[in-house]
Amino acid sequence: MLTKVFGSAVYGVDASTVAVEVNVDKGIGYHLVGLPDNAIKESSYRIAAALSNNGYKIPGKKITINMAPADLRKEGSAYDLSLAIGILVASGQIKANNLENFVIMGELSLDGSLQPIRGALSIALQAKEEGFKGFILPMKNAEEAAIVKGIEVFGIKHIKEVTEYFDQGTTLEPMRLDLKTQFSGQIDSWEYDFSDVKGQEGVKRCMEIAAAGGHNIILIGPPGSGKTMLAKRLPSILPPMNIEEALETTKIHSVMGKIKNTGIICQRPFRSPHHTISDVALVGGGSYPQPGEISLSHNGVLFLDELPEFKRSVLEVMRQPLEDREVTISRARFTVTYPSSFMLVASMNPSPSGFFNDSSVNSTSLAEMQRYMGKISGPLLDRIDLHMEVSPVPFDKLSAKRKGETSLEIRKRVTNARQQQTRRFAEAKQVHYNAQMNSRQIREYCVLDLPSAKLLKNAMERLGLSARAYDRILKVSRTIADLEEKRNIEASHLAEAIQYRSLDRAGWMG
Ligand SMILES: Nc1ncnc2c1ncn2[C@@H]1O[C@H](COP(=O)(O)OP(=O)(O)OP(=O)(O)O)[C@@H](O)[C@H]1O
Ligand SMILES: [Mg+2]
Repeated sequence: MLTKVFGSAVYGVDASTVAVEVNVDKGIGYHLVGLPDNAIKESSYRIAAALSNNGYKIPGKKITINMAPADLRKEGSAYDLSLAIGILVASGQIKANNLENFVIMGELSLDGSLQPIRGALSIALQAKEEGFKGFILPMKNAEEAAIVKGIEVFGIKHIKEVTEYFDQGTTLEPMRLDLKTQFSGQIDSWEYDFSDVKGQEGVKRCMEIAAAGGHNIILIGPPGSGKTMLAKRLPSILPPMNIEEALETTKIHSVMGKIKNTGIICQRPFRSPHHTISDVALVGGGSYPQPGEISLSHNGVLFLDELPEFKRSVLEVMRQPLEDREVTISRARFTVTYPSSFMLVASMNPSPSGFFNDSSVNSTSLAEMQRYMGKISGPLLDRIDLHMEVSPVPFDKLSAKRKGETSLEIRKRVTNARQQQTRRFAEAKQVHYNAQMNSRQIREYCVLDLPSAKLLKNAMERLGLSARAYDRILKVSRTIADLEEKRNIEASHLAEAIQYRSLDRAGWMG
């Protein structure tokens, strides 16, 4: 007898329906065709054990399984459940009404319980799109799939629930999730708050500007000055994600199987990979492409702590995605694109051991410092708008009881500044905030009056700022003006923006 069960394959962040055809006939054998990978081929052992432990069996007949379309590669162990149900139905061990209305996915344990799968959200979106009525999947993934409206999502813990549902018409409870409540509930709770940081008013101000305009930022300071502490608090002052952003981000995390019993991700991600990370882990790739850290940071923050410690090749591969805000991975048979629009926050010590602008630095250690700074490529630094020096907070400030301003207060100003940018770029494609402006937009929105233009010219000459610093200063000035709700960039905005180019000023980066 021939039976068809529907599963799904995830490529990039999108899913594509896979039909699992099972035919049970006279003879003997087990044939699996249609570009399955090794994990799927091994599934017969898991399925055999799971079935026999639950009073079923793989029949001693000729079983042919075809996974269609045949030219699409299928990977992983998530087809176990569709294969098992297909075998049971095709061999007459269970009845199946309405099987064609469901997408069924899940990895089996030997006792028949279910293990989570990857990409449940993308699969649910695709299944709904194609008019399926239900999606049966492991309970652990049910919440992320239930974000999708218009399809019933059934989270199950054990294969028995599925066989009894189809065979005996028992009921399965659909997962119900109120997206709006879930989305609004989580938004204002943060693990780290700026009110924990004593002093550091200048750095906080600079981070507020970074958040307001979506500017990349580097924090430079000696060990213990609080760089890591400050960076971790950046997501708490970023404007809230809208529902589209939340869905985009959740999809990527879902594909990586990184969502544990939570539905939609409502908070901007903060990722801080260790400096030993490989190119592939950072930007994505592999023979079965997977998103990297830059995509897991999509709509949030990628924090590279101790930037010069990262391998130069790793920093190089990040340049293109930083510019394009997406990363494309090509393989012989297919190409996948992952979004990667993130804010880069980097930190570094000014030298392996010493301190920036230290009067006691002698010429040897200056050479050492240059070498250290030279490890970060110029083109990468080129994409960082704000350079901020962080000095340790003196003891009396550190021990002061008074709490600093809370993240919530700072975030209000940031959100206000962002709203102006949203209005400004309402017509522009792919530009949402100041950091993304191209040169035409800079000319249009960063107009200087004569005295300001003169100030900038003088500063550039006096401080020996490079041409590349010019555009960065204009963009940052625009954000500072937005924070003050000013229509035009004024001299004071420019003067502040110029301060944030200390690495150019030091003349080290050539
Ligand atoms: N301004 C501050 N307010 C409150 N605590 C602070 C402040 N600065 C530093 N600290 C304390 O010092 C600790 C060390 O700070 P942190 O790890 O952020 O420094 P760092 O600059 O990242 O150092 P390293 O270069 O060694 O990584 C923090 O965990 C915090 O407890
Ligand atoms: Mg640190």
